[in-house]
Amino acid sequence: MPKKPTIKTALPGPRAKKLIKLDKAFVSPSYTRVYPLVVDQAEGLWVHDVDGNTFLDFTAGIAVNATGHCHPHVVKAIQRQAEHLLHMSGTDFYYTPQIQLAEKMASIVPGNGPKRVYFGNSGAEAVEAAFKLARWHTKRELNIAFFGAFHGRTMGALSLTASKTVQKKHYNPLVPGITHIPYAYCYRCAYNLCYPDCDLFCVKWIEDTLFRTTVPPEEVAAIFIEPIQGEGGYIVPPPGFHKAMYRIAKKYGILYVADEVQSGMGRTGKMFAIEHFKAKADIMAIAKGIASGMPLGAMVAPAKIMNWEAGSHASTFGGNPLSCQAAMATIELLEKSLMKNATVQGKRLMKGLHRLQKTYECMGDVRGKGLMVGVEFVKDRETKEPATKWRPAIIRKAFEKGLLILGCGENSIRFCPALTVSAKEIDLGLSIFEEAVKEVAA
Ligand SMILES: Cc1ncc(COP(=O)(O)O)c(C=O)c1O
Repeated sequence: MPKKPTIKTALPGPRAKKLIKLDKAFVSPSYTRVYPLVVDQAEGLWVHDVDGNTFLDFTAGIAVNATGHCHPHVVKAIQRQAEHLLHMSGTDFYYTPQIQLAEKMASIVPGNGPKRVYFGNSGAEAVEAAFKLARWHTKRELNIAFFGAFHGRTMGALSLTASKTVQKKHYNPLVPGITHIPYAYCYRCAYNLCYPDCDLFCVKWIEDTLFRTTVPPEEVAAIFIEPIQGEGGYIVPPPGFHKAMYRIAKKYGILYVADEVQSGMGRTGKMFAIEHFKAKADIMAIAKGIASGMPLGAMVAPAKIMNWEAGSHASTFGGNPLSCQAAMATIELLEKSLMKNATVQGKRLMKGLHRLQKTYECMGDVRGKGLMVGVEFVKDRETKEPATKWRPAIIRKAFEKGLLILGCGENSIRFCPALTVSAKEIDLGLSIFEEAVKEVAA
């Protein structure tokens, strides 16, 4: 395995250039590629492009390859299943991998009592299913979600999303009845308050203002929330936030839906991020890291909530046998050692970033849990003016030096390497990141 990134060509290299030209001719221009990486093959934390350049991957395919690229245990599970049964549609027939995975998911999602699992193919589908179930179960029409939230791009999930207007432009009218409210983004508190002196004003405001003035709580089906906000900027709410939110939800018979699509499946060092807050959720949406790169989404709820009737929701491909086997192999690895590794290496990453923060003024905030870590760039620590131009420049510089990272929010960079990352790889990533920051912003 290579120990260092190797960049042998200009980026993009000649083969990549040709493929990108072809891509531009045939592939949807709606995709958001931030740098010209054309991947050929990958293993563990290492990605090789079509020109023979090698990169250290701190993106994990946007927090998906939890077990690293092509983990042999996962690959073998897929190969075995591919020779056995490719597809039969779990909507219309029964097959073992879907049933076994449902049993496993029901056991790893927090909460006592019997649970049920719905399978789709993506995060958006998991959220969409939660959205429909919340309406079906409560027979209520209104919902609450958060500014900065990203829940997916299908019409229901998009209606809950409030991340960037470009994602919504020209798609109105969206699903009605959704009210977006400020997330507990303490670095930039919407109410200009400071935790803990604020006494969780952002939660109290829901009951004292929102429910009193515009949104009748008895008509609200669900509150959709990312336990740690992902696309919005890797924002970690303060301790006590989710518990207080859940209390309000329960008071008014509202379902608390945790979108763990990005934060779940061991990424934060616990199976689900909500566990860090010792809080509960009624419904959970899960995808991304669940099957190490195979398409799979899951929505999990107590049996008494997932009480919809046959035909009320389904998907031809959801819970495909290959994806289910990949998920079971992934969970085995997470439970055996990878969640622990996420905690250990996450601490190392955080410590390294805090050390860099002491030197580089532009690193306004460093935050995260486990291997879900974000750095927010500012022009000035006092004013916190977002350094929106430096962010893409740092990402591009890191790419040219052989480190793959991505942005989140308006001015943050996310670190979400595979949970297999080693201490050496963390240190290497940190040193390339420092070089990039130094060259762009210092
Ligand atoms: C929290 C969250 N929910 C939902 C989604 C949508 O997932 P997908 O792109 O698989 O539809 C994402 C994707 O980034 C996400 O981060």
